[in-house]
Amino acid sequence: MQLNHQVALITGAGQGIGQAIALKLAEQGADIALNVRSDDERAQAVRVAIEACGRRCEVLVADVSSVVAVRAMVAQAAAAFPRIDILVNNAGIERRAGFLEVEEADYDQVLNTNLKGPFFLTQAFAAHCRRAGHPGKVINISSVHEELPFPNFSPYCMSKGGLKMLMRNLAIELAPLGITVNNVAPGAIRTPINSKLLDDPAQVSRLETQIPLRRLGLPSDVAGLVAFLASDDAGYITGTTYVVDGGLLWNYAEQ
Ligand code: BGC
Repeated sequence: MQLNHQVALITGAGQGIGQAIALKLAEQGADIALNVRSDDERAQAVRVAIEACGRRCEVLVADVSSVVAVRAMVAQAAAAFPRIDILVNNAGIERRAGFLEVEEADYDQVLNTNLKGPFFLTQAFAAHCRRAGHPGKVINISSVHEELPFPNFSPYCMSKGGLKMLMRNLAIELAPLGITVNNVAPGAIRTPINSKLLDDPAQVSRLETQIPLRRLGLPSDVAGLVAFLASDDAGYITGTTYVVDGGLLWNYAEQ
C-alpha cells in the first residue's frame, strides 16, 4: 500500500470531503489523526471505519480557527503517534451574503476557519517536522473559487484565494525542510457545505448543465487525488493547484 507507516492529520474529517479523505488514506495504509469540532456519533463512526481497515485512529477535537487549539492539536497528535507525515487542511465553511450585507462575525468566522486555521496549523506542523528532522506533505483543500468569482460569497473566495498564495509561498519556504505543499480545488461536490443547493433539484439540474461532465462530484472524486499527492509518487510535486471539478472552472461556450 502506498501510505504504509505514514500518519495523516486531517481537519474537518467528520463529514464530506474530509471524511472521504480519511477513509481513503486509511485504505492506503495511513494511520489517522482525525480532527473534528465535536466528538459525536458521526466522528466515532468514521473512527470505527478507519479501524476496520486495520489502521489506528485518534479523534482530536479542535476548532481550527483558534491558534491555541491547533497548536495543542499538533502536540496531541505528535504524542499519540510516532510522528505526523501528512497534513490535510480540509476544514472549511461558507456563508452566503451579498457584499453589502456581509456581517463582521461571518467575515471573521470564514476567514479564520478557512485561512488563518491552515496558516497556523501548517506552521505548527512544519515546526514538528523540523524538530523531528523528517519531511512532510501539506495538502490544502481549496476550491475552484481560489480562481473563480462566486457572487454572494466574497469572504469565502478571499479565503480560498489567500490559501492559493499561502500554498505557493510555503512551497518555496518549506522546501528546504523537505515539505511539499499543494492545493486541491474541488468544484461542486455533494457534501454538507452544499446542503441548500442539494435540497433544490431545479438548482442542481441547472448547475449540472454548466458542468461539462454533467454531474456534481462526489467526495471520493477528491479523495483519490489527495491519496496520490500524499504518496511518494508525488514527491517532486510542490506549489501547484489540482482542480477536481468535472470541467466547471474553464467552461465557456457560445450557444
Ligand atoms: C463551494 C460550493 C460551490 C462549489 C462550486 C465550492 O467551493 O463550497 O458551495 O457549489 O464551490 O461553485
